[in-house]
Amino acid sequence: MGTQSDIKLINEEGLRNDGRKFNELRPIRIEVGVLNRADGSAYIEWGGNKVLVAVYGPREAFPKHTQNPSRAIINARYNMAAFSVDERKRPGPDRRAIEISKVISEALEVAVFTEQFPRTSIDVYIEVLQADAGTRIAGLTAASVALVDAGIPMKDMVVGCAAGKIDGKVVLDLNKEEDNFGQADLPMAIIPRTDEIVLLQMDGNFSREELEQAVELSKKAATYISNLQREALMAKYKSQEPEKEGERSE
Ligand code: CDP
Repeated sequence: MGTQSDIKLINEEGLRNDGRKFNELRPIRIEVGVLNRADGSAYIEWGGNKVLVAVYGPREAFPKHTQNPSRAIINARYNMAAFSVDERKRPGPDRRAIEISKVISEALEVAVFTEQFPRTSIDVYIEVLQADAGTRIAGLTAASVALVDAGIPMKDMVVGCAAGKIDGKVVLDLNKEEDNFGQADLPMAIIPRTDEIVLLQMDGNFSREELEQAVELSKKAATYISNLQREALMAKYKSQEPEKEGERSE
């Protein structure tokens, strides 16, 4: 999160540097079943973010001492490709990736019926190919879809979204420039069906009112993103349906 700067992020008409209104998301596109060898997979483009997710499992947890006799463990591994950011990222896990992997695993664990698969692990590989701020929530949103694609039962899909503060105003879904020069960022994730907040982090400072506004903006957006997740899944399964007699194109 940036410090005070002279860079103006909202113009006189109240529009942001990429033309969005305060409550507008960047374009989001989700594709399901993009990898043949994974049990489930998804690809998401969210603004300039490009993230690929592969799910394996439930499979016997290994090494054995990691097994939980009463439920499955969820191992999310968030990784940023060296070429995903402006300045080459040193390959391998760093503190940030370890933290993001942990919070994503914990968020997914609330949604998945883990007690149905004792002693197993569900491995979720999140590969950020291009980063433009908001990669953890883009990865988490795609991970939920990939879990469904793998046939893993869940309460509902987890939806990630973020709101932040730029030029003193609370806005939805910060892009990279806004993340760099804004005053605060609040990534969160919810389970729409139960309204549970399963991830909430904060970078920078909000007043109490601003925090409430930010949560409200993300919650509203989550309904829309949740529909995109469903549509992406439907698109995959529709494309696999055998064509009915009479519908066949010549
Ligand atoms: O991506 P997210 O917003 O979840 O996490 P962040 O730690 O707030 O990072 C914000 C953005 O900073 C990322 O999306 C990347 O675009 C950028 N970044 C970077 O350029 N180099 C890094 N080593 C880490 C992040």
